[in-house]
Amino acid sequence: MPDSENRNGDIPQNISTEIFIKNWAIYKKIIENDNMSHSDGYAKLREILMKDMKRPFSFLDLACGDAHYSSKVLQDTKAVKYIGIDVSAEALSFAKEELRNSGFESTFIRADFLDFDKIIKKPVDVVWVGFSVHHLETADKLEFMKKVKKALSSDGLFIVYEPIFLEGENQGSYYKRFKETFYLHWTGLSKEEAESLLEHVRESEKPETAEDWIKLGKEAGFNQAEKVFSEKTGLYELFKFK
Ligand SMILES: C[S@@+](CC[C@H](N)C(=O)[O-])C[C@H]1O[C@@H](n2cnc3c(N)ncnc32)[C@H](O)[C@@H]1O
Repeated sequence: MPDSENRNGDIPQNISTEIFIKNWAIYKKIIENDNMSHSDGYAKLREILMKDMKRPFSFLDLACGDAHYSSKVLQDTKAVKYIGIDVSAEALSFAKEELRNSGFESTFIRADFLDFDKIIKKPVDVVWVGFSVHHLETADKLEFMKKVKKALSSDGLFIVYEPIFLEGENQGSYYKRFKETFYLHWTGLSKEEAESLLEHVRESEKPETAEDWIKLGKEAGFNQAEKVFSEKTGLYELFKFK
C-alpha cells in the first residue's frame, strides 16, 4: 500500500462531515482547549494498550482527524504500524506530520471509514474510533461493529470514545444537556464557531446509552464488552470490546 491514498470519489459530504471538511480549525481549537477531554480519554486508551497489547501490534485509527493524541499515546507502546482513515484532507495532512517521527510504518487514507473493510485486507490488532461512530443510526452501528469484529486478529481490541445518552434521554434532551455543558465548560470558540458546532451536534449526533453500547458489542460478536472510562462532564464514555 502506498504511503498515502486519496479515495475522493467515496467521500460522504453531509451534515456529519461538512464541519470537518470545510473548517477543521473549529475542531482543532476544541482539541487544544481540551473541551472534549481528549487528554483523559486518550490517557485511558494508552493505559489499555500498555496493559493488553504486550506484543507488536497494528493500530487502525478510524476517523483519525489530526491524530494528535493517537500519535502521543502510541509512543513507547508495542505499536509497529499505524493506519489513519479520515474524510478531511486537511486533518490527514496534520496527521502525517504528527506521525512523521513515530518510528513505525504509517499510512493515511482519505475515505469513508465505513469502507475500511474494502481498503484494509489483513487482520488488524487494534481498531480505535474517537468521537465518530455516534453519527451512525443504531442498526448501522451494529453492522459497522460486526465488520470490525471480523477485521480484528483473534486477540484484537476494539475501543471507542463516544457521546452517551443517560438513561431515559433522547436526542432532544441529550442536545439540551450538551448545550448546558457547552456553556458551562467549553472555552475558546467564537460565537459563529459555537453556532456551527451546536448545529452539528443537534443535527448529526446519535448517542446510545452505556448499556446499549455494551449490548451492541455483544450482538456484534464480542465476548467482552465493557465501559472503561467516563469523562468528567458526563458527555463521553470509553468502551472496550474484545
Ligand atoms: C470529532 S472528530 C474526531 C477526530 C479524532 N478521532 C479525535 O479523537 O479527535 C471526527 C473526525 O471524523 C471524520 N469523519 C467524519 N465522518 C467520517 C466518515 N464517514 N469517514 C471518515 N472520516 C469521517 C472527520 O473528518 C473528523 O476528522
